[in-house]
Amino acid sequence: MSDKSKSSKISGFYKLPVEKRIEIVKDFSDLNEDEIKLFSSCLDMGIANRMIENVLGTFELPLGLAVNFKVNGKDYLLPMATEESSVVAAASNAAKIARINGGFKTECTDPLMIGQIQILHMADVAGAAKKIMSKKKEILYLANEQDKVLVKFGGGAKDVEVRILDSPLGKMIVTHLIVDVRDAMGANAVNTMCEALAPMLEEITGGKVRLKILSNLADKRIVKAKAVFDKKKLGGEHIVDAFLESYNLAVVDPYRAATHNKGIMNGIDSLIIATGNDFRAIEAGAHAYASRTGQYTSLSHYYKDKNGDLVGELELPMAVGIVGGAGNIHPKAKLCKKILGIKTAQELAEVVVSLGLAQNFAAVFALSTVGIQKGHMSLHAKNIAVMAGAQGNEIDKVANQMIKEGKIKLDQAEEILKEIR
Ligand code: MEV
Repeated sequence: MSDKSKSSKISGFYKLPVEKRIEIVKDFSDLNEDEIKLFSSCLDMGIANRMIENVLGTFELPLGLAVNFKVNGKDYLLPMATEESSVVAAASNAAKIARINGGFKTECTDPLMIGQIQILHMADVAGAAKKIMSKKKEILYLANEQDKVLVKFGGGAKDVEVRILDSPLGKMIVTHLIVDVRDAMGANAVNTMCEALAPMLEEITGGKVRLKILSNLADKRIVKAKAVFDKKKLGGEHIVDAFLESYNLAVVDPYRAATHNKGIMNGIDSLIIATGNDFRAIEAGAHAYASRTGQYTSLSHYYKDKNGDLVGELELPMAVGIVGGAGNIHPKAKLCKKILGIKTAQELAEVVVSLGLAQNFAAVFALSTVGIQKGHMSLHAKNIAVMAGAQGNEIDKVANQMIKEGKIKLDQAEEILKEIR
């Protein structure tokens, strides 16, 4: 486990050979030799075969490490599983700038998930809704009977809400069961409770229960992250202004907001995947939350403070777990959680949202200044060189030559490779 005295601020991490990088993580997170071996191993076929159906093999993604993160005064190294170049470097750079003003500060709600139970075919819908609310105590009792371990740890069903909805099929009720899922993502606990409540709700309402499933719009499980980005480090107050001009397009235009929020998810998903969490659930929740006013908009919010520095804030639902699910089966996900040194699901959620903010800041900063292609160039050029057939030190030679000539194209790479050989 990483301790408070260890710093995640590491200059030139990207320049080090892989072995040296692993040494640094080993020291930071107290990894043992077996854990170190996991970095270069594939998921065991037996485990894969138990995780999903019809298994043929495993599918690898690069696992990188974002450095420089400080969240609520604690230093973190963040494992990121992603196929996209520049993402890890951009997050690390943003975290370095945020550190100048103390890093990321976060707040979060209790880990409350919503389970939905849909009820149809009632003669008196309003009366049925009232009857449900009058039986709240009995409903919560039966729900909590389904998961005594969760209740023992301070979680469990906490509240009931009823909504009456007009649909093309007529009026229907959706009952919301609010469940504190503690350190779990919560899907299993919530779905089990909802299914167990169906007969009781049919009896109370005289209606027919159809859907019984959690909602991925986890808007009672919210994390907010905030950071102040130093104007001098950004290149002056005019750059802060340029940033705000770019950002404001995402506020008013869904076409831009989708891309802007995608940049946030570049960071979030990579840490969600590395810890074995459900990135589709997080994506669904994020985009639904971005539409909560009726117009799809930016998930992040930026403004200039009285010093002229740039303040960034990001708020979204974050349904992540550290117990149960794939994260407890997949050896590399377990390793990534150890690297993070997180102790609760809420701590993980706070780190994830801080990373989302860092990623978003980095993208909009690049877009407001030099553009993003410059940062993409080097790795992209190397990939094109490999596609052209370059091997060993030919890869760097071909890539560097293409960058120098400002032409990063497959035919160009093939031409240079021919000349070298
Ligand atoms: C690319 O993966 C993400 C960006 O498009 C995000 C953005 O435009 O803000 C660079």
